[in-house]
Amino acid sequence: MIALPDFPWDRLAPYKELALAHPGGIVDLSVGTPVDPVPAVAREALAGASDSPGYPLTHGTDALRRAAADWLARRHGVTVAPGDVLPTIGSKELVAWLPTLLGVGAGDRVVIPALAYPTYDVGARLAGAEPYATDGLLGLGPERVPLVWVNSPSNPTGRVLPAEHLRKVVAWARERGAVVASDECYIELGWEERPVSILHPDVCDGFHEGLLAVHSLSKRSNLAGYRAGFVTGDPALVKRLLEVRKHAGMMMPAPVQAATAAVLADDRHADEQRERYAARRALLRPALEKAGWRVEHSTAGLYLWATDDRGCWEQVRSLAEMGILVAPGDFYGQAGSSHIRIAMTASDERVNAALLRLQ
Ligand SMILES: Cc1ncc(COP(=O)(O)O)c(C=O)c1O
Repeated sequence: MIALPDFPWDRLAPYKELALAHPGGIVDLSVGTPVDPVPAVAREALAGASDSPGYPLTHGTDALRRAAADWLARRHGVTVAPGDVLPTIGSKELVAWLPTLLGVGAGDRVVIPALAYPTYDVGARLAGAEPYATDGLLGLGPERVPLVWVNSPSNPTGRVLPAEHLRKVVAWARERGAVVASDECYIELGWEERPVSILHPDVCDGFHEGLLAVHSLSKRSNLAGYRAGFVTGDPALVKRLLEVRKHAGMMMPAPVQAATAAVLADDRHADEQRERYAARRALLRPALEKAGWRVEHSTAGLYLWATDDRGCWEQVRSLAEMGILVAPGDFYGQAGSSHIRIAMTASDERVNAALLRLQ
């Protein structure tokens, strides 16, 4: 049996009970799950493709691949061929299985950010490899690693890696033949900084060898329930992933492919959703600061990363007593043990309830 970490959310259950007992009800800012409606453009496309008796293509429809390539060009200044786009069943499955799909295994170390979404660690373990959490590649010395994960904007910190930083990661990886997988699922949510893709010419000079960008429609288009994402980048790597995924049956359902193509072709709903998050952020951030928290990083993404310098669990308790549930920073690595992560995914009504309680 592969040793997997304990599922950390179970440890939050007693604090959830505490928050639920608040007379005004819980304000759950712990999990980054979308609460706003699925945009009509997605629902209509899904319904329109509901008569899909045949197997879908693992590679996805032409329409989906073209929509993804057009979106990357239009919104992020990235040029990829539609044939180099590969749909995924949400991005979490790809994060969890990429090391395995790439043939990473025993004796390998997979580099993941020091503070990170837990699935990078899990993915390394599922492949029989060892996760190595660090933000400093130089600490690895001459060691050759097969895979380096970056995540900008970051979950949990909301930190953006500038193009210069990403260039250095790419150069380092290319010298050693490592693949860089860049999880860009929050790329559309830049607030004080503009996130840049690993595939942007400022980062990789237009050469995608050894690079993969991982995208998700969960947050941009409220499609977490549909499971919609894609990966793109190095044509040879994408080809290899396609081959394994075909054999393994890892294909996005046809109605979801139709919905994904439709949302990628539409910016209006994404801009509206962005505005909702911007408004909640503009309320929550100063309210937390007035209540004694210091917000760090958080220049982009779906979360506020904050501390009042106590241990993270004490902070979780204080807020749970107000009926507000947040995530403890140590879920994301030991470096987070005095921080909390506050998700902006609650309805306006619940965000307003939180504001009143923080006063
Ligand atoms: C950094 C990061 N990557 C990937 C995911 C997975 O998202 P999904 O599977 O919904 O695309 C999440 C979800 O919260 C995340 O925070």
